Amino acid sequence: MTEPPSPGPPSPGPPSPGSAPAYETAARLAADLPTGADKTVLVRSMFDAIAPRYDLVNRLMTFGLDVRWRKQSTRALGLPVGSLVVDLACGTGDFLKILRSAGFRPLGLDLSWGMLGANHTGEPLVQADGAWLPLTSGSIDGITCGYALRNFTDLATVFDEFGRVVRPGGRISLLEVSEPDHGLLRIGDRIWFRRVVPLIGGALSDRAAYRYLPESTAYLPSTGQLRSMLMEAGFSAVNRRALSGGLSQLITATRRGRR
Ligand SMILES: C[S@@+](CC[C@H](N)C(=O)[O-])C[C@H]1O[C@@H](n2cnc3c(N)ncnc32)[C@H](O)[C@@H]1O
Repeated sequence: MTEPPSPGPPSPGPPSPGSAPAYETAARLAADLPTGADKTVLVRSMFDAIAPRYDLVNRLMTFGLDVRWRKQSTRALGLPVGSLVVDLACGTGDFLKILRSAGFRPLGLDLSWGMLGANHTGEPLVQADGAWLPLTSGSIDGITCGYALRNFTDLATVFDEFGRVVRPGGRISLLEVSEPDHGLLRIGDRIWFRRVVPLIGGALSDRAAYRYLPESTAYLPSTGQLRSMLMEAGFSAVNRRALSGGLSQLITATRRGRR
């Protein structure tokens, strides 16, 4: 694990302390969740706290489906073997293992030292904020990112960084939670994530954190908004796919421009 090397040019720099993100959802405003530097501090300390039992709770709360979703996300990159793929917000490393098995060269980045400390992959890791990637422009073939979009303090800046570091023709594959379209599945999902998961998380890890995680979906922009943000950041062929009846969503896109 390393401290971030000096960033490649040009880099936007970290968001100014206390500033609200340029992008806010109506749901986030209604839920009165933190923004700016307050959000970054909360997210980092929460993941530091839940890191030791993160994998166990994750498997239980998704019935192991999260492993399948990461594999689908890795296939959706559609990149050749040997490609350099950054897993942003790599956490304990589940994506890194799958990327390596698929023949890619993975590099993990995460904000939380606790999550990086619990990373069990032996892959190269860097502590960094997604809004300020310590990577040279156009040097990366692909990016994966699992269940972290709603945790970023300024998602538009993170997407701009994706556009800066991914080479033309490179691919991104982003996994996030979503709400199932089907009525019954939607009700079941709500009960599970809002009522049962905080109990499981509380028994095995940190109850406040596992209450916050479902609430944090309020930060997620709509599909149309995500699409516009990615196109503005330099991507085309933006596609959104519902996984397992809409329990998760997979967003893929290709970096515009000539190779
Ligand atoms: C829900 S976990 C997902 C971990 C992993 N991607 C997975 O699929 O299991 C969210 C991760 O995002 C990381 N994270 C949150 N904000 C971040 C930021 N601004 N920059 C980089 N990583 C961040 C957290 O530390 C945490 O490891």
